[in-house]
Amino acid sequence: MATRWGICSAGRISNDFVVALQTLPAQDHQATAVAARDLKRATEFAQSLNIPKAFGTYEELAKDPDIDIIYVGAIHPVHRDLVLMFIKHGKNVLCEKPMAMNLAEVKELISAAKEHNVFLMEAFWSRFFPVYEKIRSLLQQNAIGEVKIVRAEFGANLLSVPRVVEQELGGGAVLDIGCYTIQFASMVFNGEKPESVTAKGFLHDNGVAEAATVILQYPGNRQAILTCTMATELPNQAVISGTKGIIQIPSYMWSPTSLIVNGKETKYTLPPTTKHLCFNNSTGLSYEAEHVRQCLLKGLKESPIMSLAESELLASIMQEVHIQLGI
Ligand SMILES: NC(=O)c1ccc[n+]([C@@H]2O[C@H](COP(=O)([O-])OP(=O)(O)OC[C@H]3O[C@@H](n4cnc5c(N)ncnc54)[C@H](OP(=O)(O)O)[C@@H]3O)[C@@H](O)[C@H]2O)c1
Repeated sequence: MATRWGICSAGRISNDFVVALQTLPAQDHQATAVAARDLKRATEFAQSLNIPKAFGTYEELAKDPDIDIIYVGAIHPVHRDLVLMFIKHGKNVLCEKPMAMNLAEVKELISAAKEHNVFLMEAFWSRFFPVYEKIRSLLQQNAIGEVKIVRAEFGANLLSVPRVVEQELGGGAVLDIGCYTIQFASMVFNGEKPESVTAKGFLHDNGVAEAATVILQYPGNRQAILTCTMATELPNQAVISGTKGIIQIPSYMWSPTSLIVNGKETKYTLPPTTKHLCFNNSTGLSYEAEHVRQCLLKGLKESPIMSLAESELLASIMQEVHIQLGI
């Protein structure tokens, strides 16, 4: 039976998520309903993407019995309230990154999901790309020896995107894009808690984080050096240096289609689409959707690849970075 997805909000990433779902077999994935704050927007979204039901409130989606899981594609300041509402209605939830605005909110969502016995996952789609799967398998096989240094960067000029800049919309480079570099380091170091977090950076005029370089230090002389900026482009690569070799991910490190292991490159192809996408490589959201389906089929309440403990760890690191930047 197909996994029936309810789409919460009719924004840009929701568009791409539904397009990605529609690259998968229809007997496995169906976008069944969409809800927006405004019925007209929801209806237009539903018509453009062939979704059978449209609702003008998120509550109606929460009450719809014909949904297996809600995808929350709304901006992050509203994640907490929306995810709590869906959980309290007994719905499984895949919530866009960052899961919430701070550590306390993330903890609250995790306890609510556990209390109501529903599946919850933070939508770090990168983790499910074939390149990331290959990296995990290489690390498990000890293919590059002991990992000593991880470097990753995400920089783009996003100063004209209100959601990324404005404080009340959840703005700031750390929450929006730095999180990708932090989750990358955390995956490579197997969800281990760093022994220290050091951050230097700049605030934008309105007080949100414009740029930051974060050093995560781990016991045994290991570290991650991570840079994010919403003011300029960066090469957007990642590198893992081990005692016996080097793994490189060329741009975009968060949605990669190429992997270089000790100088040898392998290319990967994303599912094709003819439909409009708002972001680069977005049909790669299909890997995450299929992973969630597999978790639900197994009756899991969290993902073994993007666990709730790790969402909590990432939120605690980002909070510490914000404190050190003066936020
Ligand atoms: N995985 C990825 O590659 C990726 C890429 C981009 C963004 N994201 C994440 O996805 C989320 C949404 O990003 P986006 O670029 O899709 O954003 P967006 O298009 O600007 O907005 C998404 C939706 O947020 C909803 N929303 C709810 N309350 C709102 C409020 N008070 N003000 C404005 N909008 C409100 C709106 O829903 P209605 O339609 O109901 O009005 C809007 O359509 C963010 O958390 C972001 O970090 C992930």
